[in-house]
Amino acid sequence: MFTRGFSTAFLLLALTASTASAVAAPPTDGTPYLDRSGPTARLMVDGKPFLILGGELRNSSTSSLDYMEPIWPRMAAAKFNTLLAVTTWEQVEPQEGKFDFSLVDAAIDGAQKSGLHLVFLWFGSWKNGISSYEPAWVKSDMKRFPRVQDAQGTNLEILSAFSNANRDADARAYAALMKHIHQVDSKHTVLMMQVENESGILGNTARDHSAEAEAAWKKPVPDALMNFLTKNKAQLQPEFLDVWARTGFKTKGMWAEVFGDSQRAEEIFEAWQYSQYIDAVAGAGKAEYAIPMYVNTWITQYTGEPGGEHPSGGSVSRVLDVWLAGISHLDVVAPDIYLPDLRGVLASYDHLGNPLLIPETRNGAAGGANALYAFGQGVFGFSPFAVDQAAESENSALGAAYRVLDQLTPLLTSLDKSKMASVVRQEGDAKAAVELDGYLLRIQYEGVTARGAGGGAATNGAATTPSGAALIINTAPDEFIVAAEGVTVNFLPNSKGPQQVSMVSVEEGTFNNGVWVPGRRLNGDETNSNDHLIFRGGTPTLQKVKLYRHD
Ligand code: DGJ
Repeated sequence: MFTRGFSTAFLLLALTASTASAVAAPPTDGTPYLDRSGPTARLMVDGKPFLILGGELRNSSTSSLDYMEPIWPRMAAAKFNTLLAVTTWEQVEPQEGKFDFSLVDAAIDGAQKSGLHLVFLWFGSWKNGISSYEPAWVKSDMKRFPRVQDAQGTNLEILSAFSNANRDADARAYAALMKHIHQVDSKHTVLMMQVENESGILGNTARDHSAEAEAAWKKPVPDALMNFLTKNKAQLQPEFLDVWARTGFKTKGMWAEVFGDSQRAEEIFEAWQYSQYIDAVAGAGKAEYAIPMYVNTWITQYTGEPGGEHPSGGSVSRVLDVWLAGISHLDVVAPDIYLPDLRGVLASYDHLGNPLLIPETRNGAAGGANALYAFGQGVFGFSPFAVDQAAESENSALGAAYRVLDQLTPLLTSLDKSKMASVVRQEGDAKAAVELDGYLLRIQYEGVTARGAGGGAATNGAATTPSGAALIINTAPDEFIVAAEGVTVNFLPNSKGPQQVSMVSVEEGTFNNGVWVPGRRLNGDETNSNDHLIFRGGTPTLQKVKLYRHD
């Protein structure tokens, strides 16, 4: 992987870390790690599974202590357990080799005092496809720290991923940061690191045309990539296979020979290079402190969008396979999902064992509903953007969802994904159906005419905006815990045996340290006489239902 003259010291450190992570036993001192032994990756913190009920701060928030002072407690009150907070290369290394971690320390301190965890976002070489966070001594020395060049040879404001000098300088700063966090964070406030931000080339070119890049374009596609693609050919992303098919799935040759001479091939070429660079930065950091690390992605906004309109070489789903082939220190490739089709985007990253994480997404009414859905799909973290800007409170849609998800954490992290299902309403949806434990669950969204007269809450107070989500957990045979808002849920038989289903009991309630605490016993109007579960829109609540089957 470190093919281009990476310094020997870094090479050794990074390889040590790589080998270690392949065979190492999990840390026993509570250091956060990703447990990938089961079908769903679990983030372990202080020896216990942890779900990131997160929110991302705006880009500039953590640059001011005064600005942040009231925000820490406000975020804790709004039910976030983790904030995603920026730390930048220009701030930690204002002069080459001279580090200043005062803002990092202040963020750790601020989070700790409010009982919050942190995920630091390393804005190093790239942020949103541009290089604007590197220190002045890097910015102003374009000879030593070369830029991406377009086809006309114009320098763009983007550090070239083909430059070893760029990579090594970034990796040195990042390693120093991780060393510092390791030294000061004995309480494991920092759970995880994002390495760079929405990387790739944003501009008028899908690939770099600098001299280094031109030379690499004419070299053979590395064996490591070809071996991965050949081994996983049956499972590769369809959009990737389409491109590879154009050359009859060639397995040897230069990039244009194997993937064709097109923009799509150029994007694949850049994806490999960005994965190599950022994984090397992550490796240098992990050699100092091996907590989980991930990249986030500015995803394609429409089918067929050319690289450059979204950052070309970033980990969009159509080159996710290239990224997965290229990384060994990064643990997760994650999508930033602002598009309405959260379900579809998340599904495309549920690929070849890539752990599921949504590091950025929309907030507002959709935020709470999407959070319920996402955790039912096995994400270990969810984090809407700009939460310090919104008037977040424990009563906002997200706060209410997080309150329920916090209670469900022991269940969600102890049960297999096959015991859960989730749905969320997207534009145009009226109904959904899922299968669980020999039942077919028919879900109807609020505001859509329900079955027959007296359809309970489903026909009352119809929501003006689409609402509705349900997270269903099968806790025992014929028993379910449902966290939902804006839906009704019917249970139908979906396996051999008696073909009628009735409800034994329905309770609303809460979980206290994993123990169910019943509230009202629901019947009559509240279940339409035990015909279906009814959840009003807006604030999610919990219900426990026991069913029986009979002829
Ligand atoms: C995505 C980026 O990753 C964030 O840092 C921020 O710039 C948002 N876009 C703004 O919408």
